[in-house]
Amino acid sequence: MFRKILSLGIIASTLLFGCSSESEKEKDTLNIGGTAFRKGDLMTEDVNLGEMAEFNSDAPGTSVKLDRSFENAPPMIPHNIDAFLPITLKTNSCVSCHMPEIAAAMKATPLPQSHMTDYRPDIAKTDGKYAAAPEGTVVKKDLKGKLSATRYNCNQCHVPQTDATVMLKNVFEADYRVEKSKSSSNLNDNITEGVK
Ligand code: HEC
Ligand code: HEC
Repeated sequence: MFRKILSLGIIASTLLFGCSSESEKEKDTLNIGGTAFRKGDLMTEDVNLGEMAEFNSDAPGTSVKLDRSFENAPPMIPHNIDAFLPITLKTNSCVSCHMPEIAAAMKATPLPQSHMTDYRPDIAKTDGKYAAAPEGTVVKKDLKGKLSATRYNCNQCHVPQTDATVMLKNVFEADYRVEKSKSSSNLNDNITEGVK
């Protein structure tokens, strides 16, 4: 038994030794300034993006809105947000322009009704057990203009765009049921679609 382990060990170390000189060889052949989509030395983990992508520098009020990626997709942020991040417990600059009561004056898109609605089921205690609302029930509690805490972290869903060029073309085409969905959302109105 011991001998078996010993000889296995010898075989393994020979293989390991063999591998390392093999990868030295590979390094020489692959280090050709980039193959496929990655530029630079393929044998290092240093990121080499070629050119650094730049975020859009347009200030809010001067940017051009982007079409929604598909019906009720979170719209992408068309303006620069450098000065508005990070969003913390105490500060959220986004709401200072996007809350419905302020948005018009700021010429910003107001938050949709979905952001001021609680879709979480009530948890009820019956016979000592906690359970959510019965299956098939769609909870839709109007928060009367108050932002839902689940929507507080805006850039979890809404992201700015860069000028990065991508080598793989995106061939997805949105199929809007109504033309209006290209530039506006109505998730709260049809949230029960496919459920009820
Ligand atoms: C100073 C006011 C202001 C602040 C702060 C601000 N925005 Fe905006 N936002 C605007 C305006 C105005 C527009 C409309 C496009 C324009 O005119 O630049 C807009 C557009 C958008 C849009 C696109 C809406 C659409 O209909 O396509 C999104 C999404 C957005 N902002 C998200 C954010 C997020 C997230 C933050 C915080 C990180 C933020 N905004 C901070 C004013 C603001
Ligand atoms: C959990 C993901 C999520 C978070 C967090 C979130 N949004 Fe949205 N947002 C969406 C989606 C999805 C839509 C489009 C569907 C809808 O809700 O009507 C949307 C739509 C919007 C719109 C377009 C409204 C319209 O009438 O077309 C604006 C503006 C917006 N969000 C701003 C914000 C801001 C500002 C915050 C932070 C206070 C925020 N969102 C947080 C997912 C999110």
